[in-house]
Amino acid sequence: MSKITADSKILHHAIADAKWWRTAVIYQIYPRSFADGNGDGMGDLIGVTSRLDSLAELGIDAIWFSPFFKSPQKDAGYDVSDYRQIDPLFGTNDDLDALIARATQLGIKIIVDLVPNHTSDQHEWFKAAVAAGPGSPEREYYIFRDGKGKNGELPPNNWNSIFGGPAWTRLIGPGGKPEQWYLHMFDSTQPDLEWNNPVVAEEFENILRFWFDKGVAGFRVDVAHGMVKRDGLPDHKEHDKDGKPTPHLGLTPEQSEERVPYWVQPGVHEFIRRFRKVADEYEDRALCAEASVSPLNRLKLWVRPDEYHQTFNFDYLETKFESAALKNIVTESLVEFGSVGAGSTWVLSNHDQVRHATRYGYDHGKVPKQGDGIGPDYPQPDEALGLRKAQAATAFMLGLPGSAYIYQGEELGLPEHTTLESKYREDPTFFRTKGERVGRDGCRVPLPWESAVNASNGFSATGLGWLPQPESYHRYARDVQRGVAGSTLELYKRLIAVRKEFNLGAGEFSWHDSLTSETVLAYSNNGVLVVTNFGPDPLALPKGEILATSQHDLWVADLLEANQTVWLKQ
Ligand code: GLC
Repeated sequence: MSKITADSKILHHAIADAKWWRTAVIYQIYPRSFADGNGDGMGDLIGVTSRLDSLAELGIDAIWFSPFFKSPQKDAGYDVSDYRQIDPLFGTNDDLDALIARATQLGIKIIVDLVPNHTSDQHEWFKAAVAAGPGSPEREYYIFRDGKGKNGELPPNNWNSIFGGPAWTRLIGPGGKPEQWYLHMFDSTQPDLEWNNPVVAEEFENILRFWFDKGVAGFRVDVAHGMVKRDGLPDHKEHDKDGKPTPHLGLTPEQSEERVPYWVQPGVHEFIRRFRKVADEYEDRALCAEASVSPLNRLKLWVRPDEYHQTFNFDYLETKFESAALKNIVTESLVEFGSVGAGSTWVLSNHDQVRHATRYGYDHGKVPKQGDGIGPDYPQPDEALGLRKAQAATAFMLGLPGSAYIYQGEELGLPEHTTLESKYREDPTFFRTKGERVGRDGCRVPLPWESAVNASNGFSATGLGWLPQPESYHRYARDVQRGVAGSTLELYKRLIAVRKEFNLGAGEFSWHDSLTSETVLAYSNNGVLVVTNFGPDPLALPKGEILATSQHDLWVADLLEANQTVWLKQ
């Protein structure tokens, strides 16, 4: 092949001794739905351990677990009642020790989820606070306030919960007497903690140490941008057309910390630095923030050298599958994160988002927003188009330098369950908005390991599942795809293997301008040329060794079809 030289400036320089988290492919496990070891229809840790070999075969470096701690499960485990115990639903602390031991043998690191913004209302602290009454030190662990109005009948301010409805709930005391209100930015069973109380910060530092001592390699930190609220808890000044404060999970580029008094308050950085100090007491541990902060020149402040090691790049996730938009966001990511010495992360799906194989099955702009989900009455996606674009988008993403997060099931090309009946829904968003926003259950459906035979769902030996799968899932089962050329699973394996072989995570990256156009995007990374055709016309490719392709048909013709990505050896 004629040698193609990159003609754009280098945006990411090769790193010789990159720390593991800077380059890792991290696989997110949603414990309820990954694998069921005991047949009760709910995923569990012994189920995960029994399937670790498949993840090793996929080639991932680490697993991030959504929470498996003791919890009443009002928000699927993001409502923690004991941060040091595994919920019996998922097994025991010993099961986790066994899991970590096996994962370590396989070279897979374990990252767990820390939920510091709020606890469950069943946490000992909250129970004690309720019992101790107004003015007690116990109440100072949370955000209790007297109500406004003559008899305190109005909430202390106008904040709304992200899951819908008010962010305040009034306690009812003994004898039915209404008393103080408490703040919950999410469900009423998830009271927000008061981070200005020094005991709260100390407790969380000890929780970090507890799990680091057990051998976990890192934490993903939930709602990291919400832990500190603005002094005085002033009203939220932005209102939607109904005159209500707009609930949004994070700060958008148009919003300011001043106007949204519960996100991204400057005081949060002190706590990030304290978390970081704890991580630095150990070797090679990493902290990743779920900080919904946009744009990236604001988010980068979270990954300064003494703060988080990395943060999810949600602006990337939300970028359309389009040449110009992707070029901008990748450049911005490498420049902004690079300016503070951090690597970028890349992500397309997680347990809060409509799966990307489904998002891309809609025309641009018609995808419901995060947390809203898709219900049976909504326009339905084009499944084949969505899958094809998702494969191309993943192949584009996995060639980039930095670390990549993949969400369980995307390696099978799983679509969202878009026709889930209301009676199965568990997401509090569905209940708090009275079904107006159907919520996130559709991306949390149990995985199909084996193509369903008889009553089986390929998830549990008994055929049980806490959510039903859509009928199509048996076609996506892992055993149907394993070893089959052209399957999504084999594509992921190949991409991850080549990524490793060429050390793309730490590679030298530049755009390949002469191939790039309104419909084509091309870049070079450590001797691999990645080209994506966004269509509609096929693109003649330079001859050369094809390392990977998102569509198997490329092997036949040297053409890059619409919605296809290829990796070529330079
Ligand atoms: C984060 C989690 C989400 C959860 C919320 C409240 O956004 O990813 O699943 O509902 O925080 O903890």
